[in-house]
Amino acid sequence: MSESNFVQQLNFLARDASNESAALQAAFSLGLLGQLPSGPGAQPVSLDALAQRLGSNVRGVRSVIEPLVALGFVTLETGRGYLLAEATAAFLSDDAFTARLREVRAWWHAVALLPRAVRTGAPVEGREVLGWYRSLFLAPQPPCPNAEAEDFFDRYARNFARTQALVTAAELGVLERLVAGATSTEALANAVDAKPEGLGVLLGVLARMGIAREDAGNWSFTEAAARMLDATSLPYFQRALPATMAYWEAFGHLDEAVREHTFRLDLRDPETARRIYQENASRISGIFASHLRLSRKAAELAASLRSLSGAKVLDVGTGSGVWGAAFGLADPTTHVTYLDSPHVLSSVRPHLTKLKLEGRSRLWEGDCLSVDYGEAEYDVILLPQIIPALPPEALPGFFAKLARALRPRGLLLISGYLLTDRRDGPLDALYFALRRYVSNEGDVLSMPEFRALLTPVGLTSARGFEMPIQQVVVAHRGDVAWADAAAPAA
Ligand SMILES: C[S@@+](CC[C@H](N)C(=O)[O-])C[C@H]1O[C@@H](n2cnc3c(N)ncnc32)[C@H](O)[C@@H]1O
Repeated sequence: MSESNFVQQLNFLARDASNESAALQAAFSLGLLGQLPSGPGAQPVSLDALAQRLGSNVRGVRSVIEPLVALGFVTLETGRGYLLAEATAAFLSDDAFTARLREVRAWWHAVALLPRAVRTGAPVEGREVLGWYRSLFLAPQPPCPNAEAEDFFDRYARNFARTQALVTAAELGVLERLVAGATSTEALANAVDAKPEGLGVLLGVLARMGIAREDAGNWSFTEAAARMLDATSLPYFQRALPATMAYWEAFGHLDEAVREHTFRLDLRDPETARRIYQENASRISGIFASHLRLSRKAAELAASLRSLSGAKVLDVGTGSGVWGAAFGLADPTTHVTYLDSPHVLSSVRPHLTKLKLEGRSRLWEGDCLSVDYGEAEYDVILLPQIIPALPPEALPGFFAKLARALRPRGLLLISGYLLTDRRDGPLDALYFALRRYVSNEGDVLSMPEFRALLTPVGLTSARGFEMPIQQVVVAHRGDVAWADAAAPAA
């Protein structure tokens, strides 16, 4: 595996892999796959019809089926609906294979007991967690009906177990020890306060994941892992893992959410939103400097389209303030308003002080859906990663208010994930969207979906731009020229 592939794979395991397992498991347990026709002459099923057949809500079914389309297990005929890919139909008709799939369903919550199992080397709460890991990763595997079944099973059964192995290795301090150098299982077990028989299983799984290797009785990082994870980068990498675990319980009940529209992690509950958004703002605060390099690219893009001299900028759902600050730094005469809820805004102030931006800043406590933005107040309005946090039904009114608040030649900048026009990728954006669904937040949109919201409120000109990591959609009333230098992505 090349270095960049390894980095991608490790980031995938830290964040999206368990979401992928959850989507496949929910599709299986809801009977979604069984409702899709397959073979010559089969007629596609529309999303509405599928949701009706499953007695489930449309948004939930769509969130689960979209990654399956991106992975090729389900086929989407644009404008018509979904079909089961023939290879998928073939392996789902194999009883021994579907029995294995059913058996895995019992392990979602038990897998979260892995840290305790590694520490004690024994069953936890009556579950043989270590035995299950051994059978899944370290023992000979029963044959699968076809290559697609092999791939499906790996994503369905092993990906969430891989994420949990990584989380456990971080939580117990195993990764930190491996950064320090090679060590025997016994010495490592001693250092991290675990039983050698438990740690042995974990190290064996990390070896299968290409992270650790054993040489003459000593364990160390593989070369690829050592290149990516050193004493400086490991804390950054590990910081993402608690966020993954915050969704674990909810993903174990994804099928229930889709069927019953009930959410174990509900960000429309004010207390939960407070906790999760505060954690998010403090996590971004921890990587503020590197994040600022990204948001400054967006400020450069805006400056290439129009002058920012004296510009009044509004950053909606500011979080750590990293987007607004980039516009504060872009020109010494800009003035930036940072809008978020009060408990989140407390993370913003220290950054503004450090960047000497306080004199040109205003902190605005409020709910972005109900505050009055006024008329022709701002030259630039930023919506960084906020659209997926808002209820989709609130978006038309929200965009109408923002459009009214934009001055002539004003720019609206929306940053975050952008789906393909068919909503069949990119995969990481679909998993991000699935996390938004399972926590009862908003949605990730495609360019046509953005245009459908922007055009009716007068923002008739919109383009997507590729930025490092994510995209930015820029919209205006057609009164700003698109600079040639700013090459559009979509
Ligand atoms: C995913 S975070 C994005 C933070 C930041 N813009 C960034 O890109 O790093 C979403 C932010 O929107 C805020 N938010 C969500 N709903 C909001 C609302 N109704 N009014 C104001 N802020 C809201 C949250 O508090 C959170 O800080």
